[in-house]
Amino acid sequence: MNACPLPTRVSLNAHLFQSGVPDRLRHLINDVARAGKYVHNAIRTTDLGLAGSENQFGEEQLKLDVLSNKIIKEELCESRLVHSYASEEEAVLQELVPDAPFTVVFDPLDGSSLVDANLAIGSIFGIYEKGDLIGRKPREQLAALYLVYGPRTILVYSADKGVHAFILNEVGEFILLQRNLSMRDEVKTYAPGNLRAVTDTPPYRKMMNIWLDEGITLRYSGGMVPDVHHMLIKGAGIFTNIAGSKYPQGKLRLLYECGPFAYIMEQAGGAASDGHHSILDVKIHDMDQRTPIIIGAKKEVKRVSEVLSENHRISNEKPRKALHPVA
Ligand code: F6P
Ligand code: MN
Repeated sequence: MNACPLPTRVSLNAHLFQSGVPDRLRHLINDVARAGKYVHNAIRTTDLGLAGSENQFGEEQLKLDVLSNKIIKEELCESRLVHSYASEEEAVLQELVPDAPFTVVFDPLDGSSLVDANLAIGSIFGIYEKGDLIGRKPREQLAALYLVYGPRTILVYSADKGVHAFILNEVGEFILLQRNLSMRDEVKTYAPGNLRAVTDTPPYRKMMNIWLDEGITLRYSGGMVPDVHHMLIKGAGIFTNIAGSKYPQGKLRLLYECGPFAYIMEQAGGAASDGHHSILDVKIHDMDQRTPIIIGAKKEVKRVSEVLSENHRISNEKPRKALHPVA
């Protein structure tokens, strides 16, 4: 007979174990989660924006994104399960342990320009079988996870068995918050990134007008992690960051941002597309590759992709009647 009492809470490790995630992958996800706790702590304790600030040892402080990169690298080294990694801060493959099983890609601190405004930010990770990433596709990821550092710190992971959210508690453990996050085919909110693209991409302006006319709610913070997390938690919505204007290839990175989120979104029953293909099927040909992304509720991803591929010349269209004519 099993003498273990029924647990009052489910830890990340217990959840990984119960879900049958293979041991080595489970250990690595735990190690990444620990790195996330140190980043969480750095965000709360680093003297942000103090000119020439020094830490307690009298050393000049690193910028938070550089510091987060350093923290994560150290934890990945200590794990001994990481053959190699690539970080958005470095964008080259770095070898760690030759006979270790995994290659990890990560964006150590996404949205770091939001730090001084005290908005939510995040870290994003994708896990592959070890090896060079060029020529591979994000669909080969074995798992993906992100942490969102907001008023609370939340970790969301998927390892091929659904998408699950955990909250960092007072004693520093990730405790199950919500299992099986899933997307309905519904759009109550939209998060339109790289909106400057409306200036040279008329179909994007058309899409914006459709959303405005449909009266759905804008939920856009400027951080991909909280903005996509919002949709996953609510189970509905659409996020776009399309190509155009300042970013002719798109602003967001395939390897470190879009790939992991596409994996999680598809696991949750949503979709992620570059406008033509699933992001998970886009071949990696450059460690710094950017891509447009349309991610969220399946049908809406399809509709946006269709509108964006129309060759509309908005300037020739009849002007819409203003709902509230200006006096
Ligand atoms: O890493 C880039 C980032 O900060 C994302 O987190 C965010 O979604 C995007 O930039 C915002 O881009 P834009 O300013 O074009 O809307
Ligand atoms: Mn980023």
